[in-house]
Amino acid sequence: MKVAIMGFGVVGSGVAELFAKNHNRIVSNSTQSELELKYILDIRDFPDSPFAHMMIKDFNIILDDPEVGIVVETMGGLKPAYDFVSACLKAKKSVVTSNKELVAEKGYELLTLAEENGVNFLFEASVGGGIPIIRPISQCLAANEIAEIAGILNGTTNFILTKMINEGMSFADALKLAQQYGYAESNPAADIEGTDACRKICILASLSFGRHVYPDEVYTEGITKLTSADVEYAKNWGGVVKLIARAGRVDNGKIFAMVSPAFVKESSQLASVDDVFNAILVRGDATGDVVFYGRGAGKMPTASAVVADVIDCAKHTAKKKLFGWDDSQKDYVVDYRTLTVSLYVRVSAVGKTAEIKKQLEAKLPGIKYLVRNAAPENEFAFVTPEMPEKDIKEKLSEVEGISILGTIRITDY
Ligand code: HSE
Repeated sequence: MKVAIMGFGVVGSGVAELFAKNHNRIVSNSTQSELELKYILDIRDFPDSPFAHMMIKDFNIILDDPEVGIVVETMGGLKPAYDFVSACLKAKKSVVTSNKELVAEKGYELLTLAEENGVNFLFEASVGGGIPIIRPISQCLAANEIAEIAGILNGTTNFILTKMINEGMSFADALKLAQQYGYAESNPAADIEGTDACRKICILASLSFGRHVYPDEVYTEGITKLTSADVEYAKNWGGVVKLIARAGRVDNGKIFAMVSPAFVKESSQLASVDDVFNAILVRGDATGDVVFYGRGAGKMPTASAVVADVIDCAKHTAKKKLFGWDDSQKDYVVDYRTLTVSLYVRVSAVGKTAEIKKQLEAKLPGIKYLVRNAAPENEFAFVTPEMPEKDIKEKLSEVEGISILGTIRITDY
């Protein structure tokens, strides 16, 4: 069987290299007598690449070649990836992708198309880079009702936060370094604004809870508003700030899903996940908490997940793997403001602090104050008791003499 790669960027070139490096092992694991790379599609020229002889620019060469049974899509983005992938599935070629935007936006449609054509559409690499997570959720944890998933799903932001916290590096320098290492998206706004993590939690939520969750249904907040003051207050609280993507079941068959910075306790397994590493905690009713940890971005870890899917496609040519989810439903994802939370709040006082604290304590009985070194005289921070987020925000808006500098959700992972 022949394989084609569409997109010779960081991940696509890693796939070609891994294919060449571990060829014998890959073929023997595929149970095929041969599994060969035949084409690499890219609009750019790579005359010095060891794969130059496979380079093509015309997608139709792949589409029209009956020898090509598996197509790897590592182009990223929706255009032209969506059209190319749809055409391959209709032509009864299995597709493997690392493209989280494609799966988050078009997953249900493409899984249905794959089903109709008796081929596979696999995307292990779309979440968590080299960490096995799609297959564990769909197979190894298949006997569980999954209550909740929480993860550090973006390597770039975790790398930036780690460098800022542990090495005092500036945000800009840390981002530059992440780009040099090939962790960041071509437009790193997708990383730092939380969009990338949002796409990944959409995929995990769709798989875990059974209905497609679209990115525009998920409240998403990135790390651009975080300050070193927040990091210090988190330390005083007994934890760290992480960008956490999470989703879980609520009542009436609905779910919640969101991405935002969150306080994570020092004792949590997520707290010690540093640099480009990702971790995904899955809360099953039979297993309890299970945590998957590893390199969430980068060329070879992601290529590893892609090639494993290629092997799986090669092994399932006669019988398609049964795997997928249902279409979305209106109001399936609840409004995050109705969820019960506890918030860290940092404020600037424009009146007498003692007076303001009295008002706060009357409105939010049980709030706990946090301290940090060298805080400006008019700044203070506290953690609210648990209540629906919209109620906390409403009560805060009624307090006279404060300007809110930042709020961060507290987690219990
Ligand atoms: N930009 C992504 C990240 C790449 O930093 O996690 C892997 O999806």
